[in-house]
Amino acid sequence: MKKKLLSLVLSAVMVAGLVAGCGSSASQTTEPAAEPTEAAATEAAAEPTEEVADVEAAEAEIAKEAADAVADGETITIGFAQVGHESDWRTASTKSCQDVFSADNGYDLTFVDCDNDSAAQLEAVRGFIEQGLDYIIIDPIVSTGWDTVLTECEDAGIPVIVIDRTIDDSDKYAAWVGSNFKTEGLAAGEWLKAYAEKNGIKEINALVISGTTGASAQIGRSDGFKEIADREGWTILDEQTGDFTEEGGQQVMESYCKSYDGKFNVVVCQNDNEAFGAMTAMDNAGVKYGPGNDVILISFDACTAGLEDVKAGKITADFECNPLAAPFVEEVIAQLAAGEEPEKEVYMEEHWYALPDAIVDFSIDGEAQTMTEVTDDVIAAQY
Ligand code: AHR
Repeated sequence: MKKKLLSLVLSAVMVAGLVAGCGSSASQTTEPAAEPTEAAATEAAAEPTEEVADVEAAEAEIAKEAADAVADGETITIGFAQVGHESDWRTASTKSCQDVFSADNGYDLTFVDCDNDSAAQLEAVRGFIEQGLDYIIIDPIVSTGWDTVLTECEDAGIPVIVIDRTIDDSDKYAAWVGSNFKTEGLAAGEWLKAYAEKNGIKEINALVISGTTGASAQIGRSDGFKEIADREGWTILDEQTGDFTEEGGQQVMESYCKSYDGKFNVVVCQNDNEAFGAMTAMDNAGVKYGPGNDVILISFDACTAGLEDVKAGKITADFECNPLAAPFVEEVIAQLAAGEEPEKEVYMEEHWYALPDAIVDFSIDGEAQTMTEVTDDVIAAQY
């Protein structure tokens, strides 16, 4: 590992953070300082400042150092034990890591697709330890069963950074970067309450197609939605896993269409790919869904194809889960390399999407939420 390169990264990150106004937000979101916001970038382009010049100089220096590091064979070695390839979201997450931790940027990334197999994921992490890599990134398929292998990482002196899903039975990692899944579930529930009130819908009979059982993304979304359902006296007719896949979503929905024919008016899919499968099943069964139809379809992720389905009037509301963690992880690595203690938890920014008719006012724990209208520009900017 090249400490000088990383301390330069850190300096640039700190300067860029100032330019982007990082650290001033009262929300739990931490912006990736290495990637200034669009507004900050526009402002910087219009009015060049000394700080911008400093950032550019530092970035040029980083690029040179990275190139030198690669030429010297002094790359930063990273192992990434990825969940699998089950969804559009996952593809975007993998791409984000591969783009940031590229050879051109001075990294040697060992990527393992664990194909949704927890045993394979533990084996991948142990392989990284054997290789003596500098850092390990884990997106844990399930939230438990981690303490032993994380102790092995600690004993080997290899810092672990957890992304996306959480580890709930060990704290032996340097930092976690991801989304608040319970908030996503609460948002879906509170939105549904407000939408139902606006449209005079008195009774909610919901079917849930959940994600991989035991994944924190599943647990948080299920708990959040159920909390509102219990409070409002809604009926959750059934909840079965579609494993976050299109195929799984279709299979579960086919069985729901037979078992609950005419008895449901809400379908909650815990990711867009499950929603794609559920729509195929409902199309085949002649069930009409989307704004103004018999069934309200709620989804999570808000990937490009999901938002296209919102725009097409198929998905009524889509609750984002942000897959672009890698720039934040790079910042954590820079801090560790500089001997600093990173924030233990970094939450990424997320948005709630709908068409104008389905944009309603709602709050989560007293905090007013803003919804984003899905337009062609919004879709084009999405992952
Ligand atoms: O852990 C994040 C979840 O996993 C995303 O919602 C889903 O699409 C993915 O497979």
